[in-house]
Amino acid sequence: MKTIDDFAVAGQRVLVRDDLNVPLDDGQVTDDGRIRAALPTLTALLDRGARVIVCAHLGRPAGQPDPKYSLAPVAARLSELLGRPVTLAADVTGPSAQAAVASLPSGGVVMLENLRFDARETSKDDAQRGLFAAELAALADLYVSDGFGVVHRKQASVYDVALRLPHAAGYLVRAEVAALRRLTADIRRPYVVVLGGAKVEDKFGAIGNLISMADRLLIGGAMAFPFLAAEGYKVGTSLLAADQVDVARATLDLAARAGSTIILPSDVVVAGEPAADAPHEVTAADAIPADQMGLDIGPETARMFTGSIRGAGTIFWNGPMGMFELAPFADGTRAVASALATSKAFTVIGGGDTGAAIRALGFADSAFGYISTGGGASLEFIQGKTLPGLVVLDEP
Ligand code: 3PG
Ligand code: MG
Repeated sequence: MKTIDDFAVAGQRVLVRDDLNVPLDDGQVTDDGRIRAALPTLTALLDRGARVIVCAHLGRPAGQPDPKYSLAPVAARLSELLGRPVTLAADVTGPSAQAAVASLPSGGVVMLENLRFDARETSKDDAQRGLFAAELAALADLYVSDGFGVVHRKQASVYDVALRLPHAAGYLVRAEVAALRRLTADIRRPYVVVLGGAKVEDKFGAIGNLISMADRLLIGGAMAFPFLAAEGYKVGTSLLAADQVDVARATLDLAARAGSTIILPSDVVVAGEPAADAPHEVTAADAIPADQMGLDIGPETARMFTGSIRGAGTIFWNGPMGMFELAPFADGTRAVASALATSKAFTVIGGGDTGAAIRALGFADSAFGYISTGGGASLEFIQGKTLPGLVVLDEP
């Protein structure tokens, strides 16, 4: 894998794909971890006189411009952190982007608007993605892949554009790959995997593979409810997609046959709605009232999870245990974070939300072995899967 150190970049137009998909509240960036993680590569390129074009996505807009998903707050924060102006183009590859790039000096930065404002970015049709990738490629002389959090997506700005320009990995992608390799071979056991978070759909596929790799799998967050439902429990109004229950049931059977351990919550914090001032209480996992939703693991589960984490040699944690953004539902996530922070195991935390959670709860990054900026990406990497955005970097 070539890196930016292998290229002369002075005066060159360098298109950098970053993962700047950060949490926003009321137009303000609430956790800038992913923006900070992008800085080493951007600073190196700028110091070497490159003309830097940053491209990124934010959220999941519907393939057309939507002011709610504008990268404006992200560009503003990047500018503060870089200590240089960052011009945000008004479009992705259109006249505004082209003009901004044309007038870009060495050592200057422009950011393209949210890549997902163009439906071709995430199209399943190779030809459509190819057309968009060609427009992106026309803006630059070199492509740098540094958005580790999206390398598992076969999308135009991640995959197809690399086929159309000389390409290199940025420092973040290089560092992520080096750190996460430690979870693919010679793993110090017991190996405990903790899964939670909201993007249940994305992570479900991983569980089957993780069963055979890990010694124990602890499941919390929204991920837990399909499993509790598969056990025959009523989960009230908790997040749940019907088809996930069958998958969860099959997964539990698989684990039982493989003799591996899946640990589910035995109690949950429930409320009528996800609001900080909603009355909430702890109930047993098999006694969730019909009009209540689970928003955190309960205290007994937190003790069980931390006990299970204590003896581990390696721990991988992806996904908060509850809606940590709201104080009444943060205890489970805090308990798991603190168990990892005090553990002697090699600890890896994956995902934008999980990284944001530990910082919001006041833990120092240095309390953990490695914090990956990628959630889905790190999960796929540790299963040994082929990631399109990494494979393409090895293409000539
Ligand atoms: C993430 O936040 O996990 C990455 O930015 C990828 O976003 P996506 O799941 O919407 O593709
Ligand atoms: Mg995410």
